[in-house]
Amino acid sequence: MELNEEDVFRIEDNSLARTYMKRRIVITRGKGSRVWDIHGREYIDCTTGYGVGLAGHLHPKIMDAIRQQLERLTVCHGSFYNDVRATFVEKLIRITPNGLNRMFISNSGTEAIECALKVARKFTGKPGIVAMMKSFHGKTMGSLSATWNTKYREPFEPLVPGFTFVPYGKIDRVREAISENTAAIIAEPIQGEGGVNIPPPAFFRELRETCDEKGLLLIADEVQTGFGRTGKLWACEHWHVKPDIITLAKPVGGSLPMGVTVARDDIMSSFAMGEHSTTFGGNPLTCAAASAFLDILKEEKLVEQAEIKGAEFKARLDDLKSRNPVIRETRGLGLMLAVEFRFDILNILLQSANNGLLILDAGRNILRFLPPFVITSEDITQTIAILDRVLKEGKYSVRD
Ligand SMILES: Cc1ncc(COP(=O)(O)O)c(C=O)c1O
Repeated sequence: MELNEEDVFRIEDNSLARTYMKRRIVITRGKGSRVWDIHGREYIDCTTGYGVGLAGHLHPKIMDAIRQQLERLTVCHGSFYNDVRATFVEKLIRITPNGLNRMFISNSGTEAIECALKVARKFTGKPGIVAMMKSFHGKTMGSLSATWNTKYREPFEPLVPGFTFVPYGKIDRVREAISENTAAIIAEPIQGEGGVNIPPPAFFRELRETCDEKGLLLIADEVQTGFGRTGKLWACEHWHVKPDIITLAKPVGGSLPMGVTVARDDIMSSFAMGEHSTTFGGNPLTCAAASAFLDILKEEKLVEQAEIKGAEFKARLDDLKSRNPVIRETRGLGLMLAVEFRFDILNILLQSANNGLLILDAGRNILRFLPPFVITSEDITQTIAILDRVLKEGKYSVRD
């Protein structure tokens, strides 16, 4: 039975948890930087599944890898060895920051964080974690304890004890929050959900120095920023800092679900047998897609593409701002970009979608762009034209 649009709305609305602010679009197909809805309407996709598909929808190499692996083996628990998993692991280790060479593979960003928090506690023997205001690290109980927004946290208290929040970018406040019980500091190199916030240039170096001085671990959450999103392979490279643990997810699985926590050997080796596990983590199907994604990252120079196209996109957004006083600021690095308005942007999101453009938000008044790295100059031109039209038709004024 083929479902029509109304069927899909009805079934999802009636039977799924109401945890997402849903847009009334049934997406059924994707290719490159475009998706299509159930009526065949085309959209430029500046969301790519919240920053997942860096190589674009349905990249042929990833599709081939998945198809071939489907014919061989799809599940293989971590308690057995697997050739495809080993191939992926070797490729990833080659590009992770020097010295971070032992990993745990899971299925999502929040799981990558859970693992990082557990192993930091295990390695140091201490419970305390210093996290940042406006941070987002996920919504399972451990990650949620490190996530700033009280709207997400308060209904589920008591959360995991030992977390302290400090203002992002303020090293003095970080230092004040550290006690003899602190195990680690966790931070995003650029905050994503919190509004695409770039820290002061010295902040991550100061975090590193503080961790070295006090014997703490530095956890960099690269779930959103990793794999070139900000124009460098790891966003930490912008700040010339090597963390002790990095957390990866979103694009790593080549559009299939995967999370990875990569740490120094001595840190990850503090886990004893059985202290951490997950049934699906490192399954061969996802590893085949992830392995193909890492090949594409290198062959198609995706990181360089993000840097070049990001600069072009940012310049076009700056131009848009110069014509529209309702825009307060544009910011971002690489293809992680934001436009902050002087008012709530919900209507702009909806009208953009009606005009064939999908964008994300990052808070009430911020539009966020996480396009695939295969986005073209024509896509960018079209994106700006749609935004121009939406702003003109909406007749927004600074008072809105
Ligand atoms: C920086 C960061 N960490 C962790 C997460 C959680 O990832 P997931 O939604 O895969 O659990 C996200 C998700 O947006 C994120 O942006």
